[in-house]
Amino acid sequence: MSARRGNLALAVVALAAMLALPAAAEYGDVVLNKRSEAEGARPVVFPHWFHRIRFRCKVCHSELGFKMRAGANTVTMREIADGKFCGMCHNGQVAWAADRCDLCHSGKPGLRSGIQGGHATLGPGVW
Ligand code: HEC
Ligand code: HEC
Ligand code: HEC
Repeated sequence: MSARRGNLALAVVALAAMLALPAAAEYGDVVLNKRSEAEGARPVVFPHWFHRIRFRCKVCHSELGFKMRAGANTVTMREIADGKFCGMCHNGQVAWAADRCDLCHSGKPGLRSGIQGGHATLGPGVW
């Protein structure tokens, strides 16, 4: 009896943890700055909310292979030019092409990789 209640409590805690994570990213922007600034470009601001209301999670997190953890993905411009990651859509067909550097590299210098803000603050040039 008490063991079963214990399991239930654990399941509730685990579920709460799972739900807490997506909420943070789904409503905010994700900064990607593993190599951008080190290589002379501004940090990338990815408006997660903007994309998530237009596409299903699995398009990016399964088909495109974006791991569901801020900072977990290493993305390069070469891959984007090859049509991977952001480049699957930012190719001048689904969305504007990868020559619009400033629309993605819009972060202020010094921003670290991770989640920023909430859904009211999405979009380029905010951070
Ligand atoms: C257009 C692509 C795209 C779509 C659609 C998308 N995501 Fe994401 N998601 C990303 C990217 C890119 C990151 C950041 C990865 C990184 O920083 O390396 C991310 C990060 C995350 C994270 C990590 C947050 C953290 O705290 O570490 C979670 C959770 C997440 N997404 C959940 C979702 C859910 C749930 C949906 C659907 C409702 C969704 N995503 C739709 C691209 C997308
Ligand atoms: C669709 C969004 C997008 C556009 C447009 C874009 N980039 Fe990037 N770029 C990224 C992402 C995402 C990364 C990986 C960010 C990180 O972790 O530092 C990146 C990384 C970089 C890097 C780090 C080294 C490398 O080669 O990967 C440089 C330099 C860079 N971009 C320059 C540019 C320049 C110059 C342009 C315009 C010709 C451009 N980017 C356009 C998204 C974009
Ligand atoms: C599944 C397709 C898809 C992927 C993958 C994708 N984008 Fe987008 N993105 C779009 C579309 C569609 C738009 C809207 C284009 C328009 O308004 O013309 C957009 C718009 C944007 C905007 C402008 C948002 C605004 O407020 O106007 C930014 C910035 C952006 N994307 C960055 C990125 C970055 C960085 C990545 C990779 C980490 C990425 N996108 C991956 C489809 C995608």
